[in-house]
Amino acid sequence: MQVLHTIAELRAALADRRARAFVPTMGNLHDGHLALVRQARAAAGSDGAVIASIFVNRLQFAPHEDFDQYPRTLARDAGLLEGAGCDFVFAPSESELYPEPQGYKVSPPAELADILEGHFRPGFFTGVCTVVHKLFNIVQPTVAVFGKKDYQQLMVIRRMVEQMALPIEIQAGETARSDEGLALSSRNGYLSAGEKAEALRLSQTLKTLIAGWQGGERDVATLESTAMDRLREHGWQPDYVTLRRQRDLGVPAAGEPLVALAAARLGKTRLIDNLEV
Ligand code: PAJ
Repeated sequence: MQVLHTIAELRAALADRRARAFVPTMGNLHDGHLALVRQARAAAGSDGAVIASIFVNRLQFAPHEDFDQYPRTLARDAGLLEGAGCDFVFAPSESELYPEPQGYKVSPPAELADILEGHFRPGFFTGVCTVVHKLFNIVQPTVAVFGKKDYQQLMVIRRMVEQMALPIEIQAGETARSDEGLALSSRNGYLSAGEKAEALRLSQTLKTLIAGWQGGERDVATLESTAMDRLREHGWQPDYVTLRRQRDLGVPAAGEPLVALAAARLGKTRLIDNLEV
C-alpha cells in the first residue's frame, strides 16, 4: 500500500488501473470505515485499485464546530487501511487540495440539503459535495462507497452523481455498530465513559419510535416529540428525531419504506444515527 500526498503522485500511480473503488473519509478510522474499504476491495476485483482518502475538509465545518479538534491519526489509519485491503491512501494537505480559496462550489438543491442535517448545519452539504466532487475528479473512481450511517449524505451524493451525470456507481455500506448498538463514529472518542453508556439511548430511541409507528400510531409529530422529550430527560439536546420516507426523506406515508433519523448533542458531542424500517 502507498500513502500519497499530492494529486500528481496519485494520478501517476492510478494511470494504468481501470477499475477504481474509492472510499472518502476524514480519517481517525474505525471498523465502519474499514468495512467500506473491504466492500470497495470486493467491488474493485483483484486487478482493480482500492483508494481511500483521508482529508478533514474545512469547507464542511461551521466556525463553531470541531474542525480543530477533529483527530488526525494518519499513521494508525494507514496501518488499518492496509489490513483492510486498501492499495492507495490519498492524504493531501490543505494547500494541496485547496491551493486557493475554493470559490467554485457544488451546492445541492434545498429540498434535500436544507432539511435535517442541512437545517442544523447550514452549508454542510455544500462543503461535502464540493470536496467529494473534487475528490471524484482527482481519483476518477468507477465505484465509490459511502456509509448509511450518514444517510442524508449518501442520498445527497447519489443525487449529485445522477444530476451531474458522473460515471460512478455509488454503493451503500451498512452502519457498523458496537455490540450494544452504538453506531461507530470518529466523534465517539469525544465521549466520557459515562456518556458512552448513555449514548446507547440514541439508537434505542429510534427503535422505540419505530415500534410506535409499527404499533399503529400515525401521528408522527407525537412520536417525534415523545422521542425528543425522552432524550431531553436524560440530559441530551436533540436537534431532531424524525420518521421520513427513504425515497426522498419526505413526510412518511404508510406502505412506503421509512427511515428513522436522529441528531442530538450529549455534553459537547453531537451524535447522529438512523434505522431503516
Ligand atoms: P467520515 O465521517 O470519515 O466518514 C467516511 C465514510 O464512512 C462515510 O461514507 C460515512 O458514512 C462512513 N461511516 C462512518 N461511520 C460509519 C459506520 N458506523 N458504519 C458504516 N459507515 C460509516 O463522511 C465523511 O467522513 C465526510 O463527510 C466525507 C464524505 C469524507 C467528505 O468530507
